[in-house]
Amino acid sequence: MGEQVHIFDTTLRDGEQVPGCKLNTREKLELALKLEALGVDIIEAGFPISSPGDFESVEQIARAVKNATVCGLSRAVQKDIEVAAQALKYARKPRIHTGIGTSDYHIKAKFNATREEILERAVQAVKWARNFTDDVEFYAEDAGRTDNAYLARVIEAVIAAGASVVNIPDTTGYCLPHQYGEKIAFLKNNVPNIDKAIISCHCHNDLGLATANSIAGVLNGARQIECTINGLGERAGNTSLEEVVMILKQHASLGYYTNVNSKQLNPISREVSDIMRMPVQPNKAIVGANAFSHSSGIHQDGFLKDAQTYEIINPEEVGAEGSKIVLTARSGRSALAHRFQKLGYQFNRNDIDVLYQHFLQVADSKKEVGEEDLQKLAETYQQEPVVA
Ligand code: KIV
Ligand code: ZN
Repeated sequence: MGEQVHIFDTTLRDGEQVPGCKLNTREKLELALKLEALGVDIIEAGFPISSPGDFESVEQIARAVKNATVCGLSRAVQKDIEVAAQALKYARKPRIHTGIGTSDYHIKAKFNATREEILERAVQAVKWARNFTDDVEFYAEDAGRTDNAYLARVIEAVIAAGASVVNIPDTTGYCLPHQYGEKIAFLKNNVPNIDKAIISCHCHNDLGLATANSIAGVLNGARQIECTINGLGERAGNTSLEEVVMILKQHASLGYYTNVNSKQLNPISREVSDIMRMPVQPNKAIVGANAFSHSSGIHQDGFLKDAQTYEIINPEEVGAEGSKIVLTARSGRSALAHRFQKLGYQFNRNDIDVLYQHFLQVADSKKEVGEEDLQKLAETYQQEPVVA
């Protein structure tokens, strides 16, 4: 089975921060229960001090969720932490997620402080949070651009203060996979008490590298990935939950597993997309409408001979409807014959050769040739079986 990688879902916090994705308490609760059923280990339910509505959502999720850990975000501010603890009061497994910016950009521009002052504030925040729960996660915001030696000092100090999970966010999505991996390896090798905590990856997608960076993190010692359904999140988004789960599953030889039930990935992706009114790009890995569609003649021919020629995942495994053979002007004869067969027509090779010429004329005039077009082609051909 290998080693577990914990899945920390932040759809309801980082995902919900996206303009237009705000949810009310009922919607957040509904989604939290679906995330629990999906098998995520931690649900980041919100940022309780941010608004009375978010406080209520976190509180209701904390009451309703039974197995997953319920987490509330806070800044390294006493009042934030107290309010987060209050919202999590009824959680069976509460976690406070507190932290502060550690890059020089944050230290100087945001806080007008020094590295030493930030280190003290980080430690103080973890101590405050530990007054309420044993499960405290610390985030070093903008860790991606934080000097590694200083980051290691902060991480050592917050673990000593009682953090049991240390989150290393690439907040701006700046790192390349090898750099992010090296950062995690550096912490593994240079923080003396690192074995007392789980290292978490929280990667943003500004350069399209969030998934690759999270996997690089795991390969170098992280055992938690923070991610969202459909990769929703600030700006270009977060790591996609469905992508990291399927990468670890498809590459089982790496030796990691998650508790996520992959068959629910497509259904939950659709629910999140509907409830947040945020369409999923058609070419999105795992959950996009085209993730299992084949449209070019060469691919269709191979796929029809053996699905594995062009598909590395069985669509059933991720709860998708199934593979699709889409007919466009780039499609080939095997695909056309296949689609006619599915409609109940039995044409021989010569018929298909003739029909294919008619098909190309139709296909050149539109984006996709549908069932109605095929039926029309078949009926016309049956009445008059000659080349146009
Ligand atoms: O991107 C980030 O750094 C965050 C933290 C608040 C964890 O979302
Ligand atoms: Zn984030």
